[in-house]
Amino acid sequence: MARKRVAILISGRGSNMEALIRAARDPAYPAGIVVVAADKPAAGLAIAAAEGIPTAVADYKALGGKAAGEAELNRVLDEAGTELICLAGFMRILSADFVQRWHDRLINIHPSLLPSYPGIDTHARALAAGDKVHGCTVHFVRAEVDTGPVILRETVPIRPGDTAETLARRVLEAEHRTYPRALALVASGQVTAASASGA
Ligand code: GRF
Repeated sequence: MARKRVAILISGRGSNMEALIRAARDPAYPAGIVVVAADKPAAGLAIAAAEGIPTAVADYKALGGKAAGEAELNRVLDEAGTELICLAGFMRILSADFVQRWHDRLINIHPSLLPSYPGIDTHARALAAGDKVHGCTVHFVRAEVDTGPVILRETVPIRPGDTAETLARRVLEAEHRTYPRALALVASGQVTAASASGA
């Protein structure tokens, strides 16, 4: 079966992007990374470029806002022949139009066990609530932020003495395992938005 052509969108350091790129190095992996794009000159772009993957910056600020930024993203994505998009620390809220254009072909990783703790500061909020477990979720993207059918979740323990930083580190390790597994499930057709569970 042909490998799915996957684009990754980032805004920052790109450690999840790196985990996906590593997984896709295996020719048996059902997805290949065709482009990495960012909304600003993100640090992770250099990692992708060093792996020989084409990169692009759709600089929202320089282009004059969300509409122009998304139009440029779509141009880059189309030019690369993108079939599936992975958001990996992409810090812009995508418009309903963009989400609709890529309906069921757009997935995201979030550092909590959704539907708990959508939004930011998930680790501090889980600690403040006295939770015993935390984790990460990979899901299909819907227009409402951090909702959509769940592809995979991985749970991590919260340990006595954890700070937001120690917990974030433990969750990030889980993210790096979970995202490549989730992408493989979607790219191979084993999981679809219809078969995934709602969040
Ligand atoms: C991750 O925690 C991801 O779940 C969240 O943003 C962070 C991105 O980290 N959406 P990185 O850029 O992949 O290292």
